[in-house]
Amino acid sequence: MIRFITDTNEKKAITRSILEALPEWFEVEESREQYIRECVDWPYWAACEEDKPVGFLCLKQTGDATMELAVMGVLKTCHRKGYGRRLFAAAKDYAVQQGFSFIQVKTVKEGMYADYDITNAFYKSLGFKEMEVIESIWDEANPCQIYIMGLRSALQTIAARHSYRGAFADEKVPKEDLKAIASAGIDAPSGCNKQTTDVVIVDDKEVLDQIKGVLDPPVAQTAPAMIVVLTRRINAYRDRCFAIQDYSAAIENMLLAIVELGYQSCWYEGHITDEDRICDRIGSILHVPEEYDVVCILPVGRALDDFHAPSKKAFSERVKFNSWA
Ligand SMILES: Cc1cc2nc3c(=O)[nH]c(=O)nc-3n(C[C@H](O)[C@H](O)[C@H](O)COP(=O)(O)O)c2cc1C
Repeated sequence: MIRFITDTNEKKAITRSILEALPEWFEVEESREQYIRECVDWPYWAACEEDKPVGFLCLKQTGDATMELAVMGVLKTCHRKGYGRRLFAAAKDYAVQQGFSFIQVKTVKEGMYADYDITNAFYKSLGFKEMEVIESIWDEANPCQIYIMGLRSALQTIAARHSYRGAFADEKVPKEDLKAIASAGIDAPSGCNKQTTDVVIVDDKEVLDQIKGVLDPPVAQTAPAMIVVLTRRINAYRDRCFAIQDYSAAIENMLLAIVELGYQSCWYEGHITDEDRICDRIGSILHVPEEYDVVCILPVGRALDDFHAPSKKAFSERVKFNSWA
């Protein structure tokens, strides 16, 4: 069982009992005592077996967006029972709920000592990725491996998405990222699974310039890549066509993927589907077959300008429980 502990004496007692039982990792008395003193101020979880603490984990805030897994330990007799994993899951949930974007953790670099190799393997199995090794943090015999984990949840990405109409950095977007964005689009639901939405990824400068040339008035002129969204009016059943709903779901998925990967975009549909039918000119440039309509372009790139969330109506004006009355 995992318990969130707030009592400072309990935190100190658990930390002492676990760390003193793990000399392989915590043999230096001074640093052990420091953890025991400092843990009282940190969010703290204990793993208990029949009410007896067998492990603990603390998080410490190291920046606006980052928590550090400051210290954790599980009694050796309780290793490989999933306590470490459950402690970390509780701490990760907490960090996500508090709005943090990253968790970091430091340990001695792999290949130095067998006990620390186990620690490295454990962190990697939790999903941590190598960030950097810095030798000067501890000492030459203990090069410090920093691991990092991104925590952005779907809800955080939704909250972070806003239409971006500013300038983009002159940096190519890797094909892998563009493919990930397009995959998010085609993974979207569609009425009767008719999959009426397809996309053309444009990252070739010549083709991009041709598209930019027909965007009148000009928009997205500095975008290093674009996703062009195509739809086909295929009926889902009888005379019901859900193509608009299908491509809307695909576009929103792609906008969220774009933000998730650190880029910005804007849903340009009105601009290209107005009476001047810029969409048809884009279709010709891209050799889009007749049965498709081009309905939207999504520029993709790193933002250079600041941008803000537009003002929206209050939650209570738009959302009610159980009745609109
Ligand atoms: C169907 C649709 C068409 C849109 N077309 C355009 C457009 O042509 N040009 C533009 O600048 N923004 C366009 N937008 C973006 C909206 O203006 C924007 O979503 C809205 O102002 C709310 O801002 P937000 O996206 O930052 O929440 C479009 C959005 C939707 C859903």
